[in-house]
Amino acid sequence: MLDRKFHDSIGKRARAVTIYQSRNSGTANPSQWYRRHATKEETMRKIEAIIKPFKLDELKEALSELQINGMTISEVKGFGRQKGHTEIYRGAEYVVDFIPKIKVELVVPEEITSQVVETIITKVRTGKIGDGKIFVLPVETVIRIRTGERDKEAI
Ligand SMILES: Nc1ncnc2c1ncn2[C@@H]1O[C@H](COP(=O)(O)OP(=O)(O)OP(=O)(O)O)[C@@H](O)[C@H]1O
Ligand SMILES: [Mg+2]
Repeated sequence: MLDRKFHDSIGKRARAVTIYQSRNSGTANPSQWYRRHATKEETMRKIEAIIKPFKLDELKEALSELQINGMTISEVKGFGRQKGHTEIYRGAEYVVDFIPKIKVELVVPEEITSQVVETIITKVRTGKIGDGKIFVLPVETVIRIRTGERDKEAI
């Protein structure tokens, strides 16, 4: 007799494959579809943007027009490829200067990640060096402390 766990896993897989087939008329690979959809659906991303300080107000306004429920900003200092120098001259590459920047942190549902990233780029880009960087990270869990809500409900 087959063990119960095995039966259950086959059952789930069969259901996923059936849904896959009804939605995709059998074009792609069902096991790939299963892996993507049968795992945790509550995916969220953290967007960390390091920007020029004078761009913050404009960015905040643009972001408030999207479905953003919260964000954190901090005053930070850092350097990129020029190591804080606007021009590299002989010897200067050995001296590192930290330039004031603003770090913007947002945790958002995965579906709006690219919209948020595009908004940031559009609003803060000057085309000159030091425009900043955007890091996108996966988020495991979010907990709203007052209510105990988790993940997407908690954002
Ligand atoms: N690899 C990195 N890791 C962490 N922070 C970074 C990294 N690169 C840049 N930063 C942060 O972003 C800020 C702005 O970086 P910057 O825009 O100068 O990057 P860059 O690679 O030198 O690009 P550009 O050539 O356009 O200046 C830095 O001051 C630093 O705070
Ligand atoms: Mg730079």
